[in-house]
Amino acid sequence: MTDTSKQDRVLIFDTTLRDGEQSPGATMTHAEKLEIAELLDDMGVDIIEAGFPIASEGDFKAVAEIAQRSKNARICGLARANPQDIDRAWEAVKHAAKPRIHTFIGTSPLHRAIPNLSMDEMAERIHETVTHARNLSPDVQWSPMDATRTEHDYLCRVIEIAIKAGAGTINIPDTVGYTAPGESADLIRMVIERVPGADEVIFATHCHNDLGMATANSLAAVEAGARQIECTINGLGERAGNTALEEVVMALKVRNDIMPYRTGIDTTKIMHLSRRVSTVSGFPVQPNKAIVGKNAFAHESGIHQDGVLKNAETFEIMKPEDVGLSTNSLPLGKHSGRAALRDKLRQLGTEVGDNQLKDIFVRFKELADRKKEVYDEDVLALVTATADGETNRLQLVNLKVVCGTGGPAEAVIEMEIDGEETAAESKGDGPVDATFKAVRKLHPNKARLQLYQVNAVTEGTDAQATVSVRLEEDGVIATGQSANTDTVVASALAYIQALNRLLVRRSKVGPGVDRREVSYKDSV
Ligand code: KIV
Ligand code: ZN
Repeated sequence: MTDTSKQDRVLIFDTTLRDGEQSPGATMTHAEKLEIAELLDDMGVDIIEAGFPIASEGDFKAVAEIAQRSKNARICGLARANPQDIDRAWEAVKHAAKPRIHTFIGTSPLHRAIPNLSMDEMAERIHETVTHARNLSPDVQWSPMDATRTEHDYLCRVIEIAIKAGAGTINIPDTVGYTAPGESADLIRMVIERVPGADEVIFATHCHNDLGMATANSLAAVEAGARQIECTINGLGERAGNTALEEVVMALKVRNDIMPYRTGIDTTKIMHLSRRVSTVSGFPVQPNKAIVGKNAFAHESGIHQDGVLKNAETFEIMKPEDVGLSTNSLPLGKHSGRAALRDKLRQLGTEVGDNQLKDIFVRFKELADRKKEVYDEDVLALVTATADGETNRLQLVNLKVVCGTGGPAEAVIEMEIDGEETAAESKGDGPVDATFKAVRKLHPNKARLQLYQVNAVTEGTDAQATVSVRLEEDGVIATGQSANTDTVVASALAYIQALNRLLVRRSKVGPGVDRREVSYKDSV
């Protein structure tokens, strides 16, 4: 067993709630953000980038509340290179036990052209804004956005300015996912060697995954001297996403023999966080995703191969338990009681209140009547289906669909809308289309379907399907997820949940208002 206590510590900076949430459609509710932040804190993340406080009132409130509730993690708010952004970020994070302001500006030729600043003017702006941030906060992080496409001489010059102005962490973003491992390492090595004062600060690596190299690039940066990795759960993030937290953390753990660095992450909490982020963001995890994909461990419950593998190490480089998957978990059946269900939920890292347990239990019994064995994934899908906690104006009462080869599908739907029962029927191109059209007859809306995705939770024709739906109306985005052994029912429930959330969000931001009043791409 390796003694890791003397190894260099690599800080884990999680930006699921900022860069991850910025991914179109990944918008989370206030309560969901608080929950994810708490889970990240409990898992041992060193720094949580909780949001971009100037972006909207909602972002500000979420960052402020996460800051107030933080336990061990440092709470960071993002700000562009101007005093208003920085003041707002400070207002939001200042009540954290350990606050941080993260300010940035695009330094590459392409990014310098947007605010039309000369190199000297930008250098001056960096000096002013980092100084301003440092006058407010004892802990300031500075990022030259698009660093990997910035001229080396200029990059070194502006990093030196930021360090002299008081930044304690210098982040080197590969904003467009353009770099490759060798180059990522060379860049970090180059700035550490050339910039005066580099040994006084921490260098961070922030990679995007456009070429599928984010994990490799981050690890290469660490080997070259970076001591902070910026990442998100499930690699959530704009376009192809950010570096996946679970991948870099497990790579450092499993290959500690060749990458002798330690993190403070309790890896057994990874799986639960991954599932929660997937649920609340509405971004399902691909089945073959490293570490957290459904197929990442061949003998995850539901697809047991016990007895086939005499020695798990023949095929496994890490144990499922290391990431929080239990291998010896027994499926529940129709005779299992409420206590067994609560016990199972606890084992899966989910605490639910008495009312939610009651709802989950009712659904569990319905499911157990239809399905012989109810696996862990089924139970978690039931939690998703009941976790809403929002007051729903639209509710599904009954759904009947007739479909086949002989003509269009027909759906007859009964719903309760604002307490009143109402019904409609519609034809459509397949059962889901007919169902959605029938819902639209009862609740006319212009919402555009951005994503419709079905995943089987376990194996077999009686498996539950989880359906994710993402809707967009006038720039406001909402997602819905549901699970049912009937794919059409799950689709209807997910669609109705997304519509309910759209109603809530639209009432907050008003019609025609994009929730993002400012973009982080205009970095000044
Ligand atoms: O990718 C990027 O450059 C960013 C910055 C705001 C740090 O997310
Ligand atoms: Zn980014």
